[in-house]
Amino acid sequence: CVLGIDVGTSGCKILALDDCGVILGSVTEEYPCYAPQQGWSEQDPEDWWNGTAAGIRKIIPRLNGKTVCAVGLSGQMHGMVALDHENHAVRRAILWNDQRTEKQCDEITKLAGGPDALLAETNNRMLTGYTGGKILWMKENEPENYQKTVHIVNPKDYIRLKLTGELKTDVSDASGTGFFCVRERRWSDDLIRKTGLDPTMFVEAVESTAVSGYVTKGAADVTGLSAGIPVGGGGGDAVISTTGLGLAKSGRVGVTVGTSGVVAMGLASFLPNPNGMLQVFCGNEPGSFSAMGVTLAAAGSYQWFRNSLGQDEIRREKEEGKSAFALLDGEAASVPPCSEGMFFLPYLSGERAPLNDPFARGAFLGVTSRHGKGHFARAVLEGVAFSLRQVYELMSAKDASEIVIAGGGGASPLWRQIFADVFHLPVRTVYGSAEGGSFGAALAAGVTAGIWGSLEETVPLIRSESMTAPISANVACYEEHYAKYVKFYDALKWSFH
Ligand code: XUL
Repeated sequence: CVLGIDVGTSGCKILALDDCGVILGSVTEEYPCYAPQQGWSEQDPEDWWNGTAAGIRKIIPRLNGKTVCAVGLSGQMHGMVALDHENHAVRRAILWNDQRTEKQCDEITKLAGGPDALLAETNNRMLTGYTGGKILWMKENEPENYQKTVHIVNPKDYIRLKLTGELKTDVSDASGTGFFCVRERRWSDDLIRKTGLDPTMFVEAVESTAVSGYVTKGAADVTGLSAGIPVGGGGGDAVISTTGLGLAKSGRVGVTVGTSGVVAMGLASFLPNPNGMLQVFCGNEPGSFSAMGVTLAAAGSYQWFRNSLGQDEIRREKEEGKSAFALLDGEAASVPPCSEGMFFLPYLSGERAPLNDPFARGAFLGVTSRHGKGHFARAVLEGVAFSLRQVYELMSAKDASEIVIAGGGGASPLWRQIFADVFHLPVRTVYGSAEGGSFGAALAAGVTAGIWGSLEETVPLIRSESMTAPISANVACYEEHYAKYVKFYDALKWSFH
């Protein structure tokens, strides 16, 4: 069998897949996220490694004697892990949802010769979430840490380093640094130099299914894996989750509702991104690409709601053994669609798509004395679905006949119905779709191990599991509600800055 490791933001997930593509089980280990200042978001790479090693140790005894023959990696994208000459992290990692780098992103865009020149080179804008601005921020604000830095990698690549001793990344994650020439699948040394950085900081970018290294004896001792098994290149979570839905080259639309929300399409050929509204990155199949838009707080909004206003549900979770999210879903389901005129704007971490505004703030609107907790919960679910519909409308996929949903949020039947009604499209779940990046990473590892010849060959394994049809009365109500929702940001923008 193979393992897929997803280094997420709320925790890491280790999933085991047998040679027929059947999921044998998965383990999740949580770790903390730090927000030392408003708009900042950081994690300790050692927490990722400790969580991953603990997860692997837990899953191996559950494999009924099957041996792991390859490991695949997925991870939160864009995070900056700065390593010194001994490959130790010089500071905590700065994450994808950190918003401190607006000034540095502007500087990089100017140094590149302006937005058009930057787009011509990388096919992407330099967004505050991306790695590039974070490196410049460290150079300007923490010169002592910058001086110590020899290499920069992304989160899953830190796990690769711990497992194999190799400093490598893959082409999909490299795309999300903002310093990668996506069309030609290579680092843009020219742009890196123009920005005043040294191209040797960046590590070799391999294809997602290629062998990137082999588990060392030291890592084998810590994890229980066998030394010498291959670790594949892997991929950024937003890209490899779409691959795990069987959409690697199909042009069909996937919606992943994890901490962030991603609307993504797998593409068989390069897609120019002339106004930079989308993120167009290298895909996981050699020669393929992926187009997406990301709303920063999707299931992250619901998690915030549970943690701050769901104390009763958290207590009942312990007493009744039913998850606090399911309990909140129950309260939200008792309220009619459109939450009796209440709205939620999910800009808890600023917003990337569709606004590209690091200073945007979340809001509840239209609150009256009639509204109770169920309305607030439902408004959160609806607000996230509206934000993702706006992202979807930015993509040239308006003729999609269905969406395939993934991630923890896609496991909620209520949220799936809301998505179907808001998008006015059937919402499908497929085998493995609740597993997020870990399933795609495991499939890619299967290709690395030679179980399958390509990711394309794995598509028949990803069979349909459920279909949620839109309910026409709800669709009509949501159309009206959505038309109001899209006007709020412009009306409130003055108060966010
Ligand atoms: C993708 C993105 C997020 C993170 C979170 O561009 O920023 O999906 O990868 O996991």
